[in-house]
Amino acid sequence: MTRRLLVTTALPYANGHIHLGHLVGYLMTDMYVRFQNLRGNRAVYVCADDTHGTAIMIRARQEGRSELDVIRDMQASHEADFAAFGIRFDHYGSTHSDECRHHAGEIWKGVHQKGLVAEREVSQLFDTVANTFLADRFVKGKCPKCQSPDQYGDSCDKCGASYSATEVIEPLSTISGTRPELRSAKHLFIEIEKLREPLVKWLESGAIEPEVVNYLKGQFLSERLHDWDVSRPAPYFGFEIPDAQGHYWYVWFDAPIGYIAASDQWAKKNGEKLDDWWRSRDCEVVHFLGKDIVYFHTLFWPGMLLCGEFSLPKREVIHGHLTVNGEKMSKSKGTFIRAKTYLDAGLDPSYLRYFYASKLSPRPDDLDLDLAEFASKVNSDLVGKVVNLASRTAKFVEKTGLSGSYPDDGGLFAAAARAGDEIADAYERCELGQATRVIMALADRANEYVEAAAPWALAKDPANATKLQEACTVALNLFRQIAVYLAPILPKLAEQAGALFSQPIVRFDEVKTPLVGRPIAKFQHLMQRVDPLKLDKMIELGREVAPGEKAAPASAPAAPKKEQILEPLAPQITIDDFTKVDLRVAEVLACEKVEKSNKLLKLRVTLGPLGERTIFAGIQKSYSPNDLIGKRLVVVANLAPREMKGIGVSEGMVCAAGGDPARVLLPDVGALPGDRVH
Ligand code: MSP
Ligand code: ZN
Repeated sequence: MTRRLLVTTALPYANGHIHLGHLVGYLMTDMYVRFQNLRGNRAVYVCADDTHGTAIMIRARQEGRSELDVIRDMQASHEADFAAFGIRFDHYGSTHSDECRHHAGEIWKGVHQKGLVAEREVSQLFDTVANTFLADRFVKGKCPKCQSPDQYGDSCDKCGASYSATEVIEPLSTISGTRPELRSAKHLFIEIEKLREPLVKWLESGAIEPEVVNYLKGQFLSERLHDWDVSRPAPYFGFEIPDAQGHYWYVWFDAPIGYIAASDQWAKKNGEKLDDWWRSRDCEVVHFLGKDIVYFHTLFWPGMLLCGEFSLPKREVIHGHLTVNGEKMSKSKGTFIRAKTYLDAGLDPSYLRYFYASKLSPRPDDLDLDLAEFASKVNSDLVGKVVNLASRTAKFVEKTGLSGSYPDDGGLFAAAARAGDEIADAYERCELGQATRVIMALADRANEYVEAAAPWALAKDPANATKLQEACTVALNLFRQIAVYLAPILPKLAEQAGALFSQPIVRFDEVKTPLVGRPIAKFQHLMQRVDPLKLDKMIELGREVAPGEKAAPASAPAAPKKEQILEPLAPQITIDDFTKVDLRVAEVLACEKVEKSNKLLKLRVTLGPLGERTIFAGIQKSYSPNDLIGKRLVVVANLAPREMKGIGVSEGMVCAAGGDPARVLLPDVGALPGDRVH
């Protein structure tokens, strides 16, 4: 049966540009939607800019423009960035729309009908110069716990305490720089606790990962759910609440309603009925969002949907945060990288799509954009394994086309076709990393075939013409299967493959029958290796990011700095002593914990032309296996093999700095497996 899915990603704020962190969620969603459509399901992807709130109001004032001008320009910039990365929305709207105001009003009525609205006075800091109440982020002062100066109004960088802005010592408004005063105003609250029962039922429906359910239960549901403050007194950029003049819905009230508003706009444009998508048992609503906004989406939002009598999400996929080179994105390090900066540096969006896919799962684990790993993974997987299949063979059949019948390939095509179910299952579960690993294993088999058949050697003797055509027919069909499997991740490659065979890839099950007796188009270059100079350029451009950009939400806190324990310097050696040690660059193919040991990781590495090895390294405390897979390291390659008690032979040693935690040595971008380290 054809499934219908209404899919969304959290709406980006209109007060900042899209950066590489944002792209994690939008790309992941795009891949999921493309996959569903390639499977023959009907998935509609809607999104919108999240436009309301104090931040936009202040930005507009500072820029001397209207809020409408600010949000219009930002939306154009967002849409251009998304399009450049191949993120294909069915509709992209704005929360500042008639539809959003309408649905907010309807849901608000529902909240009233359920008797959930409460009114209370709230004391907040008020900036008398800027004439506005101050959200916590707009207050700075001394931490009420540790007295550190210059801390934000919600939490302290130094001691980690969280508090409310009214507790800050010697507070200052970041807008006007003046000392705010305490003022009290009416606020409207939603008594979310009254919805506990249906919310818990939904949480237990399997819509979200058990790990997140446990977190919510332990963190929030173990006590009474706090009433949610959903109104802000004027001045505020947003929608005025119909039955409370001078009061506006808080930005987070109407933001998710933007999902429905955007769907409504899409439905009107396409002759569809909104209710068929948002109030139908036959439609699955799926939200993608980052781990920083889980509470809003798993407690408040389902609560609002219940009040509006809309379907509850069938599924919420919660992803982790992006770090760059192992750290939170940072402007000073040039790693706070805008989507546009990546493009301006001349980097191919396909690289990032693939790299993120290779790291993604449906769990909220952070993912790291390690630039050396990025280059090596893209080069070795996409250029080395996938594109090469076509670039090394297509030219030989430009004149003859593919063989008339499919040659004996030892069962390779059939095996790859059978892998389709496993790959589809991984896509369905959003285990994108797993999907890429299965696909790359197929690419490895295909490359072994090409290596053995050596079409470049066959081409030297016209007597081998039939053999040559057969080898290329096999290689190109295996390439096409891989292009189909990768199509959700790499739509551009799929398009290029479609052009090569003069048959566009439109269905996931096109992997089942090989193409034969067809012409092959003139081979066009598919993808280049990552140019390390472009990565440098991106970092350089990243340092010039416009001021006023909001930093990425906090990811896992950096490990506390340890006392450095220095080993004494070793006795002097000669250069000859040193050259006895053969250090090589090695790429980690696989890595796992050694059972029965709390120290050792077992690594399978490749030294390029020098072959593969197994190495045991005592770095289990410092790295989890996933941190290392795909990384290029430095290893001692001429160490005598050593039997490790009952677990195997170690054929080398991984170089690492320090002991606790140990940090492995990474060569700069461009070093290849097998390169000697001098
Ligand atoms: N406007 C709200 C969402 C409203 S949804 C009804 C918001 N906007 S945001 O621009 O800050 O973030 C948009 C999405 O990008 C969120 O899902 C957020 O988790 C995600 N990310 C922002 N920075 C990120 C990283 N560094 N890494 C991964 N995703 C991150 O929140
Ligand atoms: Zn503090």
